[in-house]
Amino acid sequence: MSAVVEAPIVQARGVVKDFAAGDESLRVLHGIDLDVRAGELMLVVGPSGCGKTTLISILAGILSATEGEVRVGGRALGGLSARKLAAFRRETVGFIFQQYNLLPSLTAAENAAVPLVARGERLGAAEKKARLVLERLGMGPHAGKQPRQLSGGQMQRVAIARALVHDPAFIVCDEPTAALDAASGRAAMELLRDAARDPHRAVVVVTHDPRIYGFADRLAEMEDGRVTRVLDEPAAIRALSH
Ligand SMILES: Nc1ncnc2c1ncn2[C@@H]1O[C@H](COP(=O)(O)OP(=O)(O)OP(=O)(O)O)[C@@H](O)[C@H]1O
Ligand SMILES: [Mg+2]
Repeated sequence: MSAVVEAPIVQARGVVKDFAAGDESLRVLHGIDLDVRAGELMLVVGPSGCGKTTLISILAGILSATEGEVRVGGRALGGLSARKLAAFRRETVGFIFQQYNLLPSLTAAENAAVPLVARGERLGAAEKKARLVLERLGMGPHAGKQPRQLSGGQMQRVAIARALVHDPAFIVCDEPTAALDAASGRAAMELLRDAARDPHRAVVVVTHDPRIYGFADRLAEMEDGRVTRVLDEPAAIRALSH
């Protein structure tokens, strides 16, 4: 057994977010403390509008916090210039958005290769790596197809491949199973859970779908811009889904 306790991959402390609303400002996050550990899959759940997307966007460096601190892999995001923040997102974060955000004119393999090309790899080499990831996800036969030729579950797997291809330390997903049938949703979650098993990676998934609660190592509940509790007992997490 190691005596070294690894620092969490993601540490949020006192995170506040205000959005401008006309002349006023609207506080949507009220001081959030949250750790996401290496090797874990954390689910974030809560009613519509409670701040889930805002929170994961801040953790991923897409939005900045109004107050508080976010550290990812030991780096404080608040101190980074726009350029360094863009580099942080490119290298450290994999995103899966609800609408997948695939580029319609690119093939599945080209879409999945985008993070590699963005960091300067040659298209041919990047596409080859992307094809390997797609094969692992059972998408080998579809690697040359464009999104419009794919089903919802297949597009979802392309989005997952794109989030994994550059081996990021932190993967964030906003409602990855929202548009999927039960079987495709489970398959997507199995892929994400496998990705989270890497001891150098953490995965955070926002969901409304109680059918996937069982995949969580921990589950954070949010309400009105606050994390109200974090469950880590499998039985307690399962009980929520009934
Ligand atoms: N860019 C913005 N400008 C102003 N208000 C915003 C902005 N983005 C989000 N909000 C508000 O912040 C609150 C939290 O929004 P958020 O999208 O984080 O909720 P959510 O928990 O992800 O909801 P859902 O489950 O419906 O996706 C909402 O009241 C929303 O209207
Ligand atoms: Mg949302």
